[in-house]
Amino acid sequence: MVVWLDGDLGAGKTTLVRALLRARHHAGPVRSPTYTLVEIYVISRIYWYHFDFYRFNFPEEFLDAGLAEYFRDDAICLVEWPEKAAGYVPLPDLVVRFQFAERGRLLGVFASSVEGKECLKALQSGWPDAAS
Ligand SMILES: Nc1ncnc2c1ncn2[C@@H]1O[C@H](COP(=O)(O)OP(=O)(O)OP(=O)(O)O)[C@@H](O)[C@H]1O
Ligand SMILES: [Mg+2]
Repeated sequence: MVVWLDGDLGAGKTTLVRALLRARHHAGPVRSPTYTLVEIYVISRIYWYHFDFYRFNFPEEFLDAGLAEYFRDDAICLVEWPEKAAGYVPLPDLVVRFQFAERGRLLGVFASSVEGKECLKALQSGWPDAAS
């Protein structure tokens, strides 16, 4: 599963990843991958990879850093600043768009694959107030 997290600086991308990992009972720290490019978590044999490409000067740095091999079937890849690796980072199953709101943030979730649509459906069924 590839999830692009699309929002301005400080929009809440890392905060959402932290909440997702906490919801999967990860108790340790969840740090921003701004300097490390990727932070790795293994929870119940599922690999969670949290990327941040903000510091890329060129999209080709995605290949130079050897990041393509992380995008496997048994992994959940959460990507901040995917546009900085445009043309190289795999296309998403889901896109989460963040907007600043009067209080907190507004999130839009968009599915762009069969798996992404299933995931969105499951999210909606557990979240009755969510707009379709
Ligand atoms: N839903 C929210 N409501 C209120 N504050 C929030 C929310 N989400 C995040 N914040 C706050 O906004 C700040 C920035 O959040 P965060 O680091 O998650 O942003 P980011 O999108 O990952 O930014 P960057 O692009 O710099 O990595 C933090 O102080 C965080 O506590
Ligand atoms: Mg961040």
